[in-house]
Amino acid sequence: MNKNIAVIKGDGIGPEIVTEAMKVLDKTAEKFGHSFAYEQLLMGGCSIDVNGVPLTDETIEKAKAADAVLMGSIGGNTSTSPWYKLPADKRPEAGLLKLRKSLGLFANLRPAVLYSQLRGACPLKEEISAKGFDMMIMRELTGGLYFGARKTEEVDGVMTAVDTLSYNENEIRRIAVRAFDIAMKRRKKVISVDKANVLDSSRLWRKIVNEVAESYPEVTVEHMLVDNCAMQLVKDPAQFDVILTENMFGDILSDEASMITGSIGMLASASLNETKFGLYEPSGGSAPDIAGQNKANPIATILSAAMMLRYSFDMDKEADAIENAVSAVLNEGYRTGDIMSEGMKLVSCSEMGTLIAERV
Ligand code: IPM
Ligand code: MG
Repeated sequence: MNKNIAVIKGDGIGPEIVTEAMKVLDKTAEKFGHSFAYEQLLMGGCSIDVNGVPLTDETIEKAKAADAVLMGSIGGNTSTSPWYKLPADKRPEAGLLKLRKSLGLFANLRPAVLYSQLRGACPLKEEISAKGFDMMIMRELTGGLYFGARKTEEVDGVMTAVDTLSYNENEIRRIAVRAFDIAMKRRKKVISVDKANVLDSSRLWRKIVNEVAESYPEVTVEHMLVDNCAMQLVKDPAQFDVILTENMFGDILSDEASMITGSIGMLASASLNETKFGLYEPSGGSAPDIAGQNKANPIATILSAAMMLRYSFDMDKEADAIENAVSAVLNEGYRTGDIMSEGMKLVSCSEMGTLIAERV
């Protein structure tokens, strides 16, 4: 198959980790007789430097025209980078939010799996980590607080800022359907996370999730308050199969889930629209402190590329080959700095990419 992939390397460690993912994709294409053509696009800080804005309309059109988008990470140090002197809607993150919205990427899949080889890197007590865990966080990505009206103004002489958390039933229904569909292919359990003891948007969320659940009699559904979920993730992560939640809760909980896998450098993600189209990026940020040092962990990006093959291109065995290659390299004891432990072999970002590509 021939596929056109739009590539947004982005800022910080983005270029390093995406280069390794492309190395692995090229090896996969060669092995399975496919051809992947890449078009590199600018987004985030690097686009501000060249175009004055974090995302141009031309970039959006090119991304839309591709079969899928592979992304690294965007943004810089929020205290020191000149990008953060710009108005909020001109900063790197605004480009990412606009891209998600323009491409209709409402369903964000973030799988958090504890690799048995990395149990030592899990910060939880051994009696908890010994049980392992394998969860899929389904985060709503184009609604809620991220996209509601916001303003900062003086009210009666007092500076006041407002952000709006709004969801309509259609937005909730379509993400819930995705979550139940995915649960059917997994362990058939959805835990929907909300704050229904306080928020109207959460009460509607719960109602619609229950309605959707009626069409999936085989799937068990449970509702959990977000503060309790934050607690349960470190107390008993094995209980989770699919976590279904709104945008902001999903942002926070997915960072927490990634940390208990040992490192945020292990967490892949897929952002999908109504069709097979998707944007694939590691869940972690641009890590400006280690950028350009060939130290970053490219595994989350490589696993995101595997998700691209699986979800957008229907290339299941190719995706399996990449995931197995990652497992093999970990079995052989190779580690980047973030997941390093005693007795293991420390490798650079590019060495890790090469090792995985060789094992595809
Ligand atoms: C993520 C990131 C983004 C988000 C930022 C960079 C806007 O934290 O993908 O989780 O909050 O969605
Ligand atoms: Mg985040």
